[in-house]
Amino acid sequence: MSESSSAVARPLLPNLLAINDLDLKQIQHLLALAADFQQQTPAKSLVGKRILLLFYEASTRTRTSFEVAARRLGAETVSITASSTSIEKGESLLDTVYTLRAMAIDAIVMRHSVSGSPVLVADHVDVPVVNAGDGMHQHPTQALLDAFTIIRHKQRIAGLKIAIVGDLLHSRVARSNIELLSRLGAEVRLCAPRTLLPPAFASLAPGLILTHRLEEALDAADVVMVLRIQMERMRESFFPSEAEYVHHYSVTADRLRAARPDAIIMHPGPMIRGVEIGADVADSPQSVIREQVENGVLIRMAVLQSALLPARFSKA
Ligand code: CP
Repeated sequence: MSESSSAVARPLLPNLLAINDLDLKQIQHLLALAADFQQQTPAKSLVGKRILLLFYEASTRTRTSFEVAARRLGAETVSITASSTSIEKGESLLDTVYTLRAMAIDAIVMRHSVSGSPVLVADHVDVPVVNAGDGMHQHPTQALLDAFTIIRHKQRIAGLKIAIVGDLLHSRVARSNIELLSRLGAEVRLCAPRTLLPPAFASLAPGLILTHRLEEALDAADVVMVLRIQMERMRESFFPSEAEYVHHYSVTADRLRAARPDAIIMHPGPMIRGVEIGADVADSPQSVIREQVENGVLIRMAVLQSALLPARFSKA
């Protein structure tokens, strides 16, 4: 095979570990492929492929939507959680992966509480690895589905004012979204108490606006993305009390009046009503939270197909 024909035969996505691993062409391809999947019934392009869903951390949306996405394309899935396997008996991550790889696995979708775990696995296996969330590091498919959802409503990302409000410090969703939305030309504003938004966040992307005042973040915003307080990643308190956090940072209908009247409200889930977001906002006509979940299936179909098929087949 010539060098040029072997290049054509490679999948578009050897792995998907972090947003900044993607070039603009790959990002545009994934968004366009997800849009194609929304328009027409997809072919069973992944018949005969077996996808391992390896989840060391709890998940409702991501694991289920990868499973639905894989099956819609005709692939078989094998689902493993830490509590159901020899991982509980102390088997190492790599030994677990080598064992499962020996059962003719074609791709690994992986979530882990330790940042960098999917990178370690990708360095040791010969199949694509898709990061479904690692520690506080990255959640690339969440950012892609969020960008897809914004484009569905606003027809673009460039020039939009996007406020990301909540526990930024512990959020892999925030880190992936900051990278992706900034690269696509949005004005990204970050808002949290000082303890949950250290100054180092300013270096994640050019042009970020950091503020500790919610009204400043929401002012004329086109998109408001709300994040949960991740108590499970905290060993100490980051604010004096939940009541105090709610008082200053909860996105309520009253506070949302500072945003544009047509602003959309997003939340990656799981969401805690009455804490980071008011129920009146979560259920308002401006909320696209359930649509994010629907779009998650389309993006994950696009990612799996692009990881498993050569680029020339990677169409809806
Ligand atoms: N958004 C998200 O990652 O949700 P899950 O933890 O339920 O997968």
